Amino acid sequence: MSEQPSSPVLVTGGTGTLGRQVVRALRAHGAPVRVMSRRPREPDAVEDRIGPPAQWAVADLVEGTGIADAVRGVTAIVHCATTLGSADVRATQRLVRTARTSGGRPHLVHISIVGVDRVPMFYYRAKLAAERVVQDCGLPWTILRTTQFHDLVADMFAAQSRLPVMFTLAGGARLQPIDSGEVAERLAALALGEPSGRAAEMGGPLVHDLRELASMSRRARGSSRPVLPLRLPGAAVRAVRSGGLLAEDRAVGAVDHKTYLRRRYGS
Ligand SMILES: NC(=O)c1ccc[n+]([C@@H]2O[C@H](COP(=O)([O-])OP(=O)(O)OC[C@H]3O[C@@H](n4cnc5c(N)ncnc54)[C@H](OP(=O)(O)O)[C@@H]3O)[C@@H](O)[C@H]2O)c1
Repeated sequence: MSEQPSSPVLVTGGTGTLGRQVVRALRAHGAPVRVMSRRPREPDAVEDRIGPPAQWAVADLVEGTGIADAVRGVTAIVHCATTLGSADVRATQRLVRTARTSGGRPHLVHISIVGVDRVPMFYYRAKLAAERVVQDCGLPWTILRTTQFHDLVADMFAAQSRLPVMFTLAGGARLQPIDSGEVAERLAALALGEPSGRAAEMGGPLVHDLRELASMSRRARGSSRPVLPLRLPGAAVRAVRSGGLLAEDRAVGAVDHKTYLRRRYGS
């Protein structure tokens, strides 16, 4: 890792699941950090979650407000903000355009998802297009693709807590969930190092069938609801079934899903 920067590293989405852990990891390395959020800082709430950030920038990457101030003087940008839709591409374009004209040459570190080029889902198409924006940005860049976070998998089943059954996918759909804290550590290290272009992918330690993940989640939550596997049609489901979201040769994560659930639910 190179010498610590004296100008800040900007974390877009620094209030999100991944971003707040990136903020913590950067601070643990002694790097000054600027958090970007659409909302003004609410000291108590924010400091509970991420500790006191050195700097705070209110900006909206979709509306295009506040971005110039957010990127001014930063040495690197870890781009964790997401809008969960096609606006993601526009947001990345706005970020890149403003960073390019900011007078500096910040290192842009972008988080993406394993299989965005194999699984034809709406969100993944936007992520793939955002990757292209980063690759063509004219700034030094690094892209890290990872598999799904444990948080996302657990949230997916927790969101069904009011239903009488738990729905999941049938037919051998598999995921390889990874700890978002480990991803955050890697992103912080990448941001503090030299630009790497495409960084080696990161996958979680174990591959699980979605039915198995549903059962694990049910057990961890102390629920006895039946799991109902659905057989859905479509190219995206087919691609997931054939392993499109896996990085089996890059199973570098240490925390497995069972350990994550134990931490989350204390069981
Ligand atoms: N979840 C997974 O399994 C997974 C796996 C691999 C990669 N990824 C990628 O990791 C990244 C972070 O995911 P996450 O789960 O941590 O997301 P998240 O918790 O939903 O956080 C989203 C963040 O984006 C910010 N944001 C939303 N709209 C914005 C806008 N218009 N302008 C500026 N900021 C905006 C939000 O900040 P405010 O609300 O404070 O404005 C928030 O901090 C995403 O790019 C995602 O694709 C996720």
